[in-house]
Amino acid sequence: MKKFFLTTAIDYANGRPHIGHAYEKILADVIARIARLSGKDVYLMTGLDEHGQKVEQSAVRRKISPKALCDEVADDFKSLCNTLNVSYDHYIRTTDKYHKEFVQKCLQKLFDAGEIYKAKYTGLYSLSAERFVQEKDKINGEWPADYGQITEITETNYFFRLKEHQQWLIDYIETHPNFIYPTFRAKQVLEFLKEPINDLCISRPKERLSWGIEIPFDREYVTYVWFDALLNYISGVNFDGKTVDDYWPADYQIIGKDILVPAHSVYWPIMLNVLGYDLPKTLLTHGWWLSSGEKMSKSLGNVVDPLECIELFGPDSFRYYLMREMNVGQDCDFNLDRFATRYTTDLGNDLGNLLSRVVNMLHRYCGGIIPELGEDSPVTEELRSLWNATKRSVLAQCEILAFNSALGDLFSFIASINKFIEQNAPWKLAKSSENKDQVKLKLTLAAAAESIRLAALLLAPVMPSTVPKILDALGTNPEIKWDNLDFGNHLSGKTVVKNVILFPRLETNS
Ligand code: MSP
Repeated sequence: MKKFFLTTAIDYANGRPHIGHAYEKILADVIARIARLSGKDVYLMTGLDEHGQKVEQSAVRRKISPKALCDEVADDFKSLCNTLNVSYDHYIRTTDKYHKEFVQKCLQKLFDAGEIYKAKYTGLYSLSAERFVQEKDKINGEWPADYGQITEITETNYFFRLKEHQQWLIDYIETHPNFIYPTFRAKQVLEFLKEPINDLCISRPKERLSWGIEIPFDREYVTYVWFDALLNYISGVNFDGKTVDDYWPADYQIIGKDILVPAHSVYWPIMLNVLGYDLPKTLLTHGWWLSSGEKMSKSLGNVVDPLECIELFGPDSFRYYLMREMNVGQDCDFNLDRFATRYTTDLGNDLGNLLSRVVNMLHRYCGGIIPELGEDSPVTEELRSLWNATKRSVLAQCEILAFNSALGDLFSFIASINKFIEQNAPWKLAKSSENKDQVKLKLTLAAAAESIRLAALLLAPVMPSTVPKILDALGTNPEIKWDNLDFGNHLSGKTVVKNVILFPRLETNS
């Protein structure tokens, strides 16, 4: 069976993990978890992009070898993934032996096929972007700030033919509407392709850069970091007895908007096509986390550290906030106050208090045992039909990657469970000695418990460590399964725990 194959961008090894890295992994993980729960055989790959000038320079500054630097950074990034519960199946590093061998094999193949040629070139080189740039890259007559210093360089290098594949690429994008998500990004790529594209310089002379993969047909050169990095998506499923065909083409390649054009939407598809591979099914391009509307950057000092957020709110709440706020594909402002409000309101009050109230009432009125949930009672009918509508809409929205509105609907359902309890007022029913009130009391608590169980199951891809605690508090198997999401008598006879606190109150400084 072919795997449901998902990749994230591989992070540069020249910095510390920030919120953008964390978000991308969480997004990939949520999609992976949904796919697993829906019965797919998932393979999620993420990793580290280790070569290039900036890594080499950081290592020189630190007086350590580039590999030693990358080992440290890899530990930091992997540990972030683990803290965030990102269920990756493989973590690739571009210094891995199988990756380097695969890159060299591809370079040789392209060279032998005449797709790579040698030429002398004079051009403007950006050290920060680690590539040749052109006057047309200027924005309003200025070089973009992230290009840093620009110097004119004359060099003999190897070039990968892109120009002659330009029309093929345009036709491909026009005839494959799912290739680039969201659609407005495909339009941007087509706009970029209206101008003639240049062949891509894929080598760097060793005298200028030695921290890279050696070009197999000319040992004086290493390959350009992007050419190396992009190939991770295939090298990562092409070792250890794996068969590329079992994984490739990827179902989703998840990347940020800054690396769509030209790397993933021009270089990558042309490389794949020339090497004889299909194109990924979808380049899922997410937007950026901003800080007060501005790009986060080290120089502005406004970069959000994911570990600090996790320290304050816990990993699952961080995952919830990011998935609840961002409309996949659009930019979104990160706001700590808003995060605190969501933590207190959605998670603490609506979900956490709901669970603790229900288990406490079950102890007080039912001896801690969940009563039977009768069929077709008018008491439970409202919640049952609300659940059915919620389930349909949440699953449909996950299908179209609208996780923010899926969570919105799920939390409306959770609000309805709270309302249902207020309306039926178990504390009043408990005081009545009438049989019908006692029946209603039991049904109310059984229906509330069942509703919490179901809502938790749909919340599991986003909050994978909280949900087992909820299921455990309800006395049921904490294993998360989506094989039966029907509202029914699943909890009857289960013993609930006493006192459960899912989201402790935030400590205030005031
Ligand atoms: N190494 C390249 C990717 C090579 S993939 C073959 C790279 N690395 S990166 O560390 O700079 O970025 C990794 C991912 O994080 C990218 O997809 C990028 O878009 C994403 N983000 C970086 N900053 C971001 C935000 N502020 N918000 C959301 N994601 C952003 O690019």
